[in-house]
Amino acid sequence: KPQSKMQMAEGMSDEEKIFTYNGVLYPSIMCPEETLKRLDSIQAREDDVMLVAYPKCGFNWMVGVLRKIIGEATGKKMDSKTPPLIEFSAPEYLKVCQEAKQDPSPRLLGTHIHPDNIPASFFEKKTKMLVVFRNPKDTLVSFYHFYQNNPVLPSGQSWETFFSNFMSGEVAWGSYFEHAKAWEKRMDDPNIMVVTYEELKEVDMGVRNISRFFGFQLTEEQVQQIAEGSTFRAMREKSNDSHAGMGKVFFRKGEVGDWKNNFTPEQSQKMDEVFKAELEGTRLGAKLNY
Ligand code: A3P
Repeated sequence: KPQSKMQMAEGMSDEEKIFTYNGVLYPSIMCPEETLKRLDSIQAREDDVMLVAYPKCGFNWMVGVLRKIIGEATGKKMDSKTPPLIEFSAPEYLKVCQEAKQDPSPRLLGTHIHPDNIPASFFEKKTKMLVVFRNPKDTLVSFYHFYQNNPVLPSGQSWETFFSNFMSGEVAWGSYFEHAKAWEKRMDDPNIMVVTYEELKEVDMGVRNISRFFGFQLTEEQVQQIAEGSTFRAMREKSNDSHAGMGKVFFRKGEVGDWKNNFTPEQSQKMDEVFKAELEGTRLGAKLNY
C-alpha cells in the first residue's frame, strides 16, 4: 500500500521536505521533481476553469466557491476530495493526467505556480484563469503558520527566519513579489481575472462577477446561496472531510489584518519599503494597498 503524504513526512528532515527546481523552492512530497518536469502533460481545454493563486492567498476558499458555481450552473457533480492543483502528484502524476483527460468539461483545475511555468496550452487555448492575491503581510503570516502546522513542510524556522526567507523569495513556490509582478503584466488579458482576498471579503465573495467571467449564468438566489455556503465558518466546519483531517490548518483564522498581531514595527516598515520598490504605481499594487 503506498504511503500517505503524512506518513512520508514523518521520516523526513526539514531539509528533505523542500527542494529547488529551476531556481524556485517546492515541497518535495507534494510536488516531486518528476511531476514538475511533466507539467505539460496536462492538456488545457478552452472551457477549463483555472484557478491560480500564490500560496495562502485564498486558494481553498475559491476552490469551494468555484465548485459550487460549476455545480449550480452546469449540474456537474463536483468531487470535494480531489485537490485540483496541477503540480501535485496524487501519487503518480500520469494518473492525475489520465483522470483529468477523462473528466468531462468544465474541469476545475488549479495551481500555485508562477505564470511563466503554467503549461503553454492554457495560454494557447485561451483558458480563462481566476488569479487570487492577498496583501503580502497577511499572506506571510498565513504562510508562516502553514509551515509550522503542515507536516509536509519544514517547521523548524523561527518567525524572524521565515520573515527574511519570505522577503527574499526562499519559500515554497518562490517569491510573492515575482508572482505579483508577472500577473501585473497580464492584467489586460481578457482571459485573466485578478481578484484580491480583501475584495472577496466585501461583496458576495465576487460570486456574481466570477461566474460571469467564466460564462456561467446564475440566478440572484444561487449567487446568495453560494456566498452563504462559502463563509469561513461554513467552510471550516466542512473542511475535515475535504482536507484529510487538516481542515483547521487550511482554515485557520480567515481575517484581514492579522499581520498586526505578528509583525514588529521594523518588519512592517521593511515590507512597506519592498512593496513600494516592487509594486508601487502598478494596478495590482493599488488593489493590494493594505
Ligand atoms: P489565514 O491563515 O490568515 O487564516 P490558501 O487556501 O490559499 O492556502 O489560503 C489560506 C487562507 O485563506 C487562510 O488564511 C484561511 O483561513 C483563509 N480562508 C480559507 N477559507 C476562507 C473563507 N471561506 N473565507 C475567508 N478566508 C478563508
